[in-house]
Amino acid sequence: MVMTALTDQADYKTVSFSQTTITELMIPSYSNFGGKIHGGILLSLMDKVAYVCAAKHAGNYCVTASIDTVDFLQPVEVGDLVSLMASVNYVGKTSLVVGIRVISENIKNSSVKHTNTSYFTMVAKDEHNKPAQVPGLVLEHREHVRRFIEARRRKEIKQSYMKEVEQIKMPDNYEHCIEMLHGERCIVAG
Ligand SMILES: CC(C)(COP(=O)(O)OP(=O)(O)OC[C@H]1O[C@@H](n2cnc3c(N)ncnc32)[C@H](O)[C@@H]1OP(=O)(O)O)[C@@H](O)C(=O)NCCC(=O)NCCS
Repeated sequence: MVMTALTDQADYKTVSFSQTTITELMIPSYSNFGGKIHGGILLSLMDKVAYVCAAKHAGNYCVTASIDTVDFLQPVEVGDLVSLMASVNYVGKTSLVVGIRVISENIKNSSVKHTNTSYFTMVAKDEHNKPAQVPGLVLEHREHVRRFIEARRRKEIKQSYMKEVEQIKMPDNYEHCIEMLHGERCIVAG
């Protein structure tokens, strides 16, 4: 365990302190017209477990600042038991990243499938609704070290991606814009 930089260990909490699991039965009202569970139901559960985990670590109310890409790898069926396992992966000054692994279990045959993994950035708020400092993180296992470094790398990549996105601008020349649409499945009607 790397404890060298810790000046006041009271300001640090372990990863395990805030690890949270929520299990929920997928009832028929959660399903879409195809009989599978709505993606929005899973997103809502993910937001809930991220909040519990983040607020426990922060010792404060938290808000969701951003959500990393969510890819639904496999459909979830009505009657499945969905478990969402949340863990603080990374802490900044007032923000922290909660990693969430979602699995779905078929009760009858006990088969378990991994439906998705995502990362929620949560920001702690003080009583004046201003970002509040969060405790540091005690990394208890090698896995925690790996997750912390990966989260920091994702943050760096996202920051440089956001800078690139800010550069995206439509060319001033409208005729050039129309040319750029060549081969696309759209019709300029106006
Ligand atoms: C997210 C929010 C707290 C940021 O507030 P802000 O005044 O811009 O705060 P700052 O710029 O000082 O950033 C505070 C922290 O949030 C992080 N942050 C802000 N926006 C972020 C984003 N889009 N993605 C990831 N992290 C973000 C910053 O990196 C910073 O982290 P750090 O202190 O660990 O370095 C604010 O925009 C907010 O309250 N948004 C609404 C959140 C909400 O209502 N969520 C529910 C949606 S329904």
